Amino acid sequence: MNSSAAIDVREVTKTYDLGDVKVEALRGVSFTIARGEYVAIMGPSGSGKSTLMNLLGCLDRPTTGRYLLDSIDVSTLGDDQLAAIRLKKLGFVFQGFNLLARTSALKNVALPLFYAGVGSRERNALAAGRLAEVGLADRVNHKPSELSGGQQQRVAIARALVNDPAVLLADEPTGNLDSTTSEELMGVFQHLNEAGRTIIMVTHDEDVAGHARRIIRLRDGRIVDDQATGKG
Ligand SMILES: Nc1ncnc2c1ncn2[C@@H]1O[C@H](COP(=O)(O)OP(=O)(O)OP(=O)(O)O)[C@@H](O)[C@H]1O
Ligand SMILES: [Mg+2]
Repeated sequence: MNSSAAIDVREVTKTYDLGDVKVEALRGVSFTIARGEYVAIMGPSGSGKSTLMNLLGCLDRPTTGRYLLDSIDVSTLGDDQLAAIRLKKLGFVFQGFNLLARTSALKNVALPLFYAGVGSRERNALAAGRLAEVGLADRVNHKPSELSGGQQQRVAIARALVNDPAVLLADEPTGNLDSTTSEELMGVFQHLNEAGRTIIMVTHDEDVAGHARRIIRLRDGRIVDDQATGKG
């Protein structure tokens, strides 16, 4: 076993049991992702991308197989333990940004720290640092409605990073952005990856995926291709 892997997925299956029908969404998937990698997950609709992201994000458990996150076997943990692992080890970025509308960028970014029990002075200092990391040092007091779409997504990224997660998971992060803003966002991801962040993103967009260093392609719940892009 590769003990330094950020992600170690072994023969993982996921079957959704709908009573009379069973859907085999993942049919035996194995791969490792080392710390500091930048990976895109692609595949046609229904191929299992979101199912895999839900497992990687500890939002769900595999039916069979093992999943080690940062060397912790999370495949058998209970709901409370999974929630604790999510808070500590993972950062999430979604297509829809999911920011609180009436709340400043700084407070949005600081929110996960509130749940982690960090005091307000330290929360604000850490949040300001993360906003600076994504190039928004001059926008800390802006509300989401006072920011462009790309800036809102950068706030969401700063929020995802505020707990210093082992892995940043992004599900269609450019889905709501035009191509110019998507390119800018890919610049932010590249900068974060160069600073050592481990990033995994699902995307339908080959241009977006081309910014990653590696692309894993799914089809019918199986990995059909796993190759370096030649980037980086
Ligand atoms: N909660 C669920 N219950 C039952 N079946 C599900 C559930 N979620 C997904 N599926 C099925 O599992 C398969 C994989 O779905 P998944 O959402 O992982 O695909 P995807 O690759 O993310 O597709 P898309 O690109 O359309 O988002 C599909 O056949 C889907 O219908
Ligand atoms: Mg999906």
